[in-house]
Amino acid sequence: MSMPDQTVLSSAGEAERAAFRAGPVDEQSRERLASGGLDYRRLDVDGDAFGAWLQVVARGFQDGERSAEQIAASQERSGYRRVTGVYDPVAPVPEAPVATIASWLGELTVPGGAAIPSCAISAVTVSPTHRRRGIARAMLEGELRAANAAGVPMAMLTVSESTLYGRYGFAPAAPAASWRIETKRAQWIGPRPDGRVDFVPREKLRELLPVVHERARLRVPGEIDVPAGHWDNIAGTRPDAEKAGDKRAVQYADASGQVRGLAVYAVRENHDDFTKATVTVHYLVAEDDEAYAGLWRFLLELDLVAEVHANELSTDEPLLWMIADQRAATVTVRDHQYVRILDVPAALEARRYETAGRLVLDVADPLGIAEGRYLLEVGADGAGRVTRLAGDAVEDAVEVALGVTELSAVYLGGVSLATLAAAGRATSTAAATAARILSWHVTPRLSIWY
Ligand SMILES: CC(C)(COP(=O)(O)OP(=O)(O)OC[C@H]1O[C@@H](n2cnc3c(N)ncnc32)[C@H](O)[C@@H]1OP(=O)(O)O)[C@@H](O)C(=O)NCCC(=O)NCCS
Repeated sequence: MSMPDQTVLSSAGEAERAAFRAGPVDEQSRERLASGGLDYRRLDVDGDAFGAWLQVVARGFQDGERSAEQIAASQERSGYRRVTGVYDPVAPVPEAPVATIASWLGELTVPGGAAIPSCAISAVTVSPTHRRRGIARAMLEGELRAANAAGVPMAMLTVSESTLYGRYGFAPAAPAASWRIETKRAQWIGPRPDGRVDFVPREKLRELLPVVHERARLRVPGEIDVPAGHWDNIAGTRPDAEKAGDKRAVQYADASGQVRGLAVYAVRENHDDFTKATVTVHYLVAEDDEAYAGLWRFLLELDLVAEVHANELSTDEPLLWMIADQRAATVTVRDHQYVRILDVPAALEARRYETAGRLVLDVADPLGIAEGRYLLEVGADGAGRVTRLAGDAVEDAVEVALGVTELSAVYLGGVSLATLAAAGRATSTAAATAARILSWHVTPRLSIWY
C-alpha cells in the first residue's frame, strides 16, 4: 500500500543500489508461496546456487543449456542484480529453482532530461511444471512491493509477451520501431557533417560505449543506464560471445576529434548477387545530431549493400527526413519499454512539462501501491508540483480518472491522454487540455533489451 511519509529515492547512487540488491524478499509473497509448499528466496550471485538458477532462466526462455564458460561469464557480469528464485523442496532436483526473477535499481530518463530511480525487472520465468498457479504473480507483486518499500518510485521491464504485465500496472510507454531500408532507393539528403567515421576494434568499442551512452541517454525519455555486462553483449566482447567476428564497429568523431557516436553492425553477404548484402545494425548511439547524421549516412551508403535493418528505433526518427524516398523504409512498430509508476508524486515531479495547468488525477491501482487522488500543478517554468488530495473538489482543475497503467503509458509522452480517452482507457472533463499538459516533444525510445 502507499506510504505517504516514506522516503522516496531521488537518486540511484552506488549505496542505494547495493541496499536495494541486499533488501529482503516481500513477506506477503513469501507467505503466499510458502502456503503452497514453495520457498521464495534471494540467492548470492557469487555462490554455487547461481549456476542452477541461470540454467532455469535459459530453459524458461526455450534456450539451450549454458556451458560452464557461459555460467562463469554471466556470474562475473551479474553483480548488479538482485537475484531471486522459488524453490520446490520436494522436487527431484530441489537445488534448481522452479521460478526465477532478477531486478536492479537503475535509472530511467524522463521528459525534460532528468533520470528517475527505477526498479528494472528481468529473467521472469516459471517452470512449465509449475505454471499457472500464481507463482509469476507472487514474484511480480513481491518485487513491486519490495521496490516500493525501498522507496523506488518507478519500475520498468521489456517483455516476451505483451499480455503479461498490464495486470500489475505496467504499460507499454516507449514503442520500438524496426526499420528495413532499401539503401539504393533511399538516397541520402540529410546533412553531411564535417566529422569523420572510422572503424574501431571491438575492444575499443566496448570502452567507448558506456562513455558515449552516458552523455546521450538523458536526451531521450525511456532510455536507461545500461548495466556494464550488456555492453559486452553488444560489443561481442564477452568471453563466450558467439559470432563476435561478424560485428563491425565504427565511431563518429567531430571536427575537434571528440568521439560523439558509435555504431555496431553485421553484414550478411548475398551469394546470388554480390551487390545485395544486408546490414543489421545491432546498436547505434549518437550524442548529437551531427553524429547521428554521420553514422546513418555511412550505413546507408555502404557499397555492395541493398538493405539495412535496424531495430529498437524511435517511432519519430529524424532519419525518415534524411532520405529522399520515404517509401524506401518499411517501418514496423511494437511495444517495447514498459514502465510502472509506484510513487505518483515523485514520478510526476521528476519530469518536466511544456504547458502550465492544473490536473486532478484520480488514479486506480489494482495493487493499491499508487492509488489515490493527486493535484498536479504545472507552473510557467515547466516544473510540476504534486499534492495528495483527501477527495475534496479542486477549483479550476481538469479532472482525469485513469488506472496506474494508463498514467504510466502517458508518463514518458509516448501516447496522448486524448488517445487513451478516445480508447475508453481514461475519462476527463477536458481530455485535450490534460493531453497538452502531459505530452512531450521528444518521442520516447529504448535502444536495448534487458
Ligand atoms: C509468463 C510466465 C512467467 C507466467 O508464469 P505463471 O506462474 O504461469 O503465471 P501465473 O500463474 O502467476 O499467472 C499470473 C497471471 O498471468 C496470466 N498469464 C500467465 N501467462 C500468461 C500468458 N502467457 N499470456 C497471458 N496471460 C498469462 C494468468 O492467466 C494470470 O492471470 P490473473 O492472475 O490476472 O488471473 C511463464 O509462463 C513463463 O515462464 N513463460 C516463459 C518465459 C517468459 O515469457 N517470461 C516472461 C518474460 S518477460
